[in-house]
Amino acid sequence: MNKTMTLRSTLRLSALGLAATAALVTGVARAGEVEVLHWWTSGGEAKAAQALAATMKAKGHTWKDFAVAGGGGDSAMTVLKSRVVSGNPPAAAQIKGPSIQEWAREGVLTNLDDVAGPEHWDQLLPPQIAAGLKYKGHYVAAPVNVHRVNWLWVNTAVFKKAGIKPPTTWAEFFTAAEALKKAGVIPLAHGGQSWQDFTTFEDVALGVGGSAFYKKALVQLDPTALKSDTMKEVLTTFKKIKGYTDKNAPGRDWNLATAMVIRGEAGMQLMGDWAKGEFLAAGKTPGKDFECVASPGTAKDFSYNVDSLAMFQLKNPANAKAQRDLASALMSPDFQELFNLNKGSIPVRLNMPMDKFDACAKQSSKDFVESSKGGTLVPSIAHGMAVPSAVEGAIKDVVSQFWNSDKATVDDTMTKLVAAAKAQ
Ligand code: BGC
Repeated sequence: MNKTMTLRSTLRLSALGLAATAALVTGVARAGEVEVLHWWTSGGEAKAAQALAATMKAKGHTWKDFAVAGGGGDSAMTVLKSRVVSGNPPAAAQIKGPSIQEWAREGVLTNLDDVAGPEHWDQLLPPQIAAGLKYKGHYVAAPVNVHRVNWLWVNTAVFKKAGIKPPTTWAEFFTAAEALKKAGVIPLAHGGQSWQDFTTFEDVALGVGGSAFYKKALVQLDPTALKSDTMKEVLTTFKKIKGYTDKNAPGRDWNLATAMVIRGEAGMQLMGDWAKGEFLAAGKTPGKDFECVASPGTAKDFSYNVDSLAMFQLKNPANAKAQRDLASALMSPDFQELFNLNKGSIPVRLNMPMDKFDACAKQSSKDFVESSKGGTLVPSIAHGMAVPSAVEGAIKDVVSQFWNSDKATVDDTMTKLVAAAKAQ
């Protein structure tokens, strides 16, 4: 009896021991390296990226940061291409919108259905966003957030001093800009880089033309809308804005423009809500130190920019496993909250509690739902959400040439936009 007991307990113990050893072995085998390419290098962005690194390290993996500085990600995409061409892709890269399909067509992305299926991503994501993360019906990218692009950031004290309120129409914007000029501050902080010029341009297109025009002209690339009286008004309004920026705007990084508003050197900035990450990282409070208002004329519209990490096929099994853990972590409620509290955006995962988020994020969340019901939710072209990358690049060039050149006319620019829309 005693012997049997001993044998049993020995067996039980050794079974436990085996399980523990197996767990240890799997634990070791499971730990891999995750290399992630991104361009989150500004104050707020870096805090969000650190949250991601910490999440992966807590799972026992090694984090390999592949940060390529440069707002909007143009440099990051160039570097990524050379890495993939040389057969050495990172585990994941920040790739968004139609570019996900372009990369998938090259046959270099991995199928994430083994994570997405059991974790019910189809039920946890807005359908139109889930569709963009799939290639031929299979998930190849995991989303982290929803950024709203059509925001105007305002320095509260500067506006108070100038005796003005945040503008809600373009007419009010120019009145406010004049008042700021008189008060001796730069009315609009701008960074003269193509993606920032286009961010301003698409805000104007949405505010002046409305969401139906925006979709027809800039998403469907309809030539009659690209060359129309509405587009004339959009371009004229856009160019008028330049008169309220400073002479050092060319080439300036977006976060340096945000810093000008934070410091009160400038009154406003037109920028997506990653700018809020900068205000927060500088210890500023929305509603007190700064205001977030929809860019003029777009209170009912929402232009979205969803950051996602597309995942590449990897040869090393431990790294491929770590990559699966990354995909799963990105969609987890804890990560979605932590990351977005730092990034300025809102969770992309549906039905997340918003109680820890500030007033701007709550507003964004409400407007996201309402605009999606009302048909005024539009993809941001400046941030790669709508058109093939070749078209995006071509129309961005046309818009920046118009912004920068005193000789470019509205009519010629519209003709060039029609041509650029056909870029392959
Ligand atoms: C990205 C954001 C980023 C911003 C500025 C956008 O295209 O979606 O994540 O913060 O560029 O770099």
